[in-house]
Amino acid sequence: MKKVISVVGARPNFMKVAPLCRALAPHAREIKHVLLHTGQHYDTAMSQVFFDELELPAPDIYLGVGSGSHGEQTARIMAEFEKVCVNEKPDMVLVVGDVNSTLACSIDAAKLNIPVAHIEAGLRSFDRTMPEEINRIVTDSISSLLFVTEQSGIDNLRNEGVGERKMFLVGNTMIDTLLHLKPKAQQSKILERYGLEKHSYCVVTLHRPSNVDTKEGLKNILELFEKLAEHISVFFPMHPRTKKMLESFGMEARAQAIERLLIVEPLGYLDFLRAMESATFVLTDSGGIQEETTLLGVPCITMRENTERPVTVEKGTNILAGTDMKNVFAACENVLCGHIKPGSVPPLWDGRAAERIKNVLLQQLSV
Ligand code: UD1
Repeated sequence: MKKVISVVGARPNFMKVAPLCRALAPHAREIKHVLLHTGQHYDTAMSQVFFDELELPAPDIYLGVGSGSHGEQTARIMAEFEKVCVNEKPDMVLVVGDVNSTLACSIDAAKLNIPVAHIEAGLRSFDRTMPEEINRIVTDSISSLLFVTEQSGIDNLRNEGVGERKMFLVGNTMIDTLLHLKPKAQQSKILERYGLEKHSYCVVTLHRPSNVDTKEGLKNILELFEKLAEHISVFFPMHPRTKKMLESFGMEARAQAIERLLIVEPLGYLDFLRAMESATFVLTDSGGIQEETTLLGVPCITMRENTERPVTVEKGTNILAGTDMKNVFAACENVLCGHIKPGSVPPLWDGRAAERIKNVLLQQLSV
């Protein structure tokens, strides 16, 4: 019997691990699959709702580390996860994405000579001011198995000198989850709840420190909303980080004064999927949402200077608008005028990525 510990910590991790839990469940006699939650995200709306909706089993181990600076948070996870590895003696540790939990747990495991498998490996924004880019580079460099979502990831790993035998182009487990739950999301009443009419609103998600952590940045964003709301309703489920910054700069009143801007709490998975699917477009600085909109065929305007997911621009519906608000507004106007970029679905984004990963794991663990 082999033991694999899968690590989740922050909101975008849950949908990447859920399909793997399903794929490994029938192999419970050969592989004991332990689900560990670091507690990087802990609010009901940022964590528990995803366990309920994604049919994720309750975590076997919860570290409860909470928020902190990068150093504090990473160090707290490392101190706790090291003890888990020593006690549990897993044969492999599986990490996903690029959050601090991914980095911390992969370092612990690698130092204890436990092989690390990284799902969503090889993505690079080539922007080292992004904390996630540091997390990606370090995690990939110490992982034994690299599961990749798009060809650019393979190219990046090759350029970094990674051996061919370590990397596997398998598709996207986040898309597995989306395809699995799309029918259920149709039943969500989110549009009715907020009086949103299909294709007559845009969805906004913004939480990157580079966009929301400065007064100037947030002021520019509110100005953008003021202009945008003259043309379309703006539906903004706000990340706690953005909310905190808006409050600390004393800008809530200005935001509330924008008539067609609707700010709500972070949504659960099914509600958010339904809201995205029926939107005229999505404006975001998230990574995963660039991929989900590409799959859904919904126009996505990404408010960042770069993307680690170039396939969403090359093949999908994503438009990299940068962070100059003039350009962001022009990109929105373009979509509002009906100039919609046609998109196609990237190879292997077919709902079977977790099955492919499972097959590699069974082989590598010799079970
Ligand atoms: C983290 C990830 C980011 C990911 C994002 C998705 C890192 C470096 N960043 O950013 O890549 O895109 O998650 O959401 O790992 N907070 C709450 N409740 C929570 C969690 C956080 O209120 O459940 C607040 C706290 O004030 C906290 C702040 O949000 O200080 C930031 O949380 P943190 O986990 O440090 O980073 P995110 O911005 O969420």
